Amino acid sequence: MARRILLLGPPGAGKGTQAALIANALHVPHISTGDMLRAAVAEGSDLGSQVESVMAAGDLVSDSLVVAIVDERLAKEDARCGYLLDGFPRTLGQAEALNDLVIDAIGTVVVLDVASEVVVQRLLKRAEEEGRSDDNEETIRRRLEVYEADTSPLVNFYGAAVLTVDGVGAVDDVLSRIMIALAKS
Ligand code: AP5
Repeated sequence: MARRILLLGPPGAGKGTQAALIANALHVPHISTGDMLRAAVAEGSDLGSQVESVMAAGDLVSDSLVVAIVDERLAKEDARCGYLLDGFPRTLGQAEALNDLVIDAIGTVVVLDVASEVVVQRLLKRAEEEGRSDDNEETIRRRLEVYEADTSPLVNFYGAAVLTVDGVGAVDDVLSRIMIALAKS
């Protein structure tokens, strides 16, 4: 089974939820650029102060900043034999940079398919429960627009490496679909 996996999908598709479970099952590190950037904001680091307003608006952080943090993370020992990338790459520029960083960077690309109205409802529910700063309706719509414009072209870019999985249903059912698709790949 592939051990270099990219997880793509719109905001709220369940990337973070599924990535943690898949990474645990396959014993590879779960590398989430969103989590790393939120940690930088919470720490109040220089990186955090550069990205905070961009994230709050639902826009993308610059490719150069994100590629630098992924480069540093992939250089760590635990990523040598595999990884699960969640939320990276998000642009064609990032995808090309990843190919420059790692030989055979991509094993399989899992795309979680969830309709826009479903993800909006999920994220508005999370807003009530957790209060993430980019989970208000205006910013959610912006994140969806950015996904369509900048990230969805990666599905064609990765072509035959892509497995599209229905991301609607119970978390365990979605996980089973992903694991079955990965096992067949
Ligand atoms: P990031 O953290 O990557 O956010 P996102 O893509 O908007 O994704 P979310 O975390 O909202 O959703 P998810 O698909 O991970 O779903 P989750 O499992 O959390 O990025 C945030 C920001 O950081 C970006 O907008 C950008 O500014 C910046 N950034 C990050 N990476 C970048 C990059 N590479 N380049 C540039 N900028 C970057 O689930 C969502 C909710 O749904 C949860 O409440 C969950 O419990 C629930 N849920 C999950 N699965 C199900 C299910 N099956 N049924 C019902 N509810 C479910």
